[in-house]
Amino acid sequence: MVYSTNDALQQEIKQQKGKSKTIGLVPTMGALHQGHIDLITDAGAKCDIVVISIFVNPTQFNDASDLENYPREVDQDIEMINRLHVDTIVYTPSVKAIYGDAVETIDYDFGSIIQYMEGQYRQGHFGGVATVIKHLFDIVKPHKAFFGEKDYQQLRLIQQLVKKTGQPVEVIGCATSREESGLARSSRNKRLNADQLQQAAIIPKALELARSLFHQQPIPKIKQDIESLFADSPVELEYFEIAPITDLIPVNEAVEGEDHRAFIAAFVNGVRLIDNWLLD
Ligand code: PAF
Repeated sequence: MVYSTNDALQQEIKQQKGKSKTIGLVPTMGALHQGHIDLITDAGAKCDIVVISIFVNPTQFNDASDLENYPREVDQDIEMINRLHVDTIVYTPSVKAIYGDAVETIDYDFGSIIQYMEGQYRQGHFGGVATVIKHLFDIVKPHKAFFGEKDYQQLRLIQQLVKKTGQPVEVIGCATSREESGLARSSRNKRLNADQLQQAAIIPKALELARSLFHQQPIPKIKQDIESLFADSPVELEYFEIAPITDLIPVNEAVEGEDHRAFIAAFVNGVRLIDNWLLD
């Protein structure tokens, strides 16, 4: 079933809840790939019905050309969903259905978890993500919602969002889905040709290197080694940081008793890719 209006969607969800069905939500911006399929499958194992929203959210793009070039392939997405053995509802709202007449970002304070890495390089991005997820949770009212760990700061933000808003949604983080090369699956990978996809495998390779060096050498030296790795590659490193997972503030020295993650962003032929990896 595919719904684009809130009324029709909400009526269907109400009916399903009336039959004591649990509702999972997988928010997406479409251009579905195996990573989304893994999320939908995880959601299907934990909920009776999975709502998949397909909505390219304008408020989370800080670059107009990125928004314009974002792949849109709703018919293909729906075909892919229909092939799954999961009870699904597809929600394809208009901008008006989500935002009404005011396409505006709600101003939340999430503190340090969104201040660095993506928050630093994509000004305004997280405000847009928090706003659309707040609206989606209000409209769909799912019991559980599923997000990939590839966007780790986003996952943490959404966990904080529900604490702030009091929305009764359990936010579940799912492991990053990867290609055989280790490259994290992303809709943006569709903009790369075979050679560029091979070049992009330097990103997980850098994370693997960081993991192997983490307890062996100081963080500034690890960062130098990662920069040298990229110096010989056409892939352009934007940032590489290591941060404890509690506050996500990048450090030059590991913090005793904390788990750490390495975070990376890089451009492959102008396409910006991100990834992160647990180090400890
Ligand atoms: O990760 C994404 O695809 C988007 O940020 C999300 C969560 C669907 C919100 O637009």
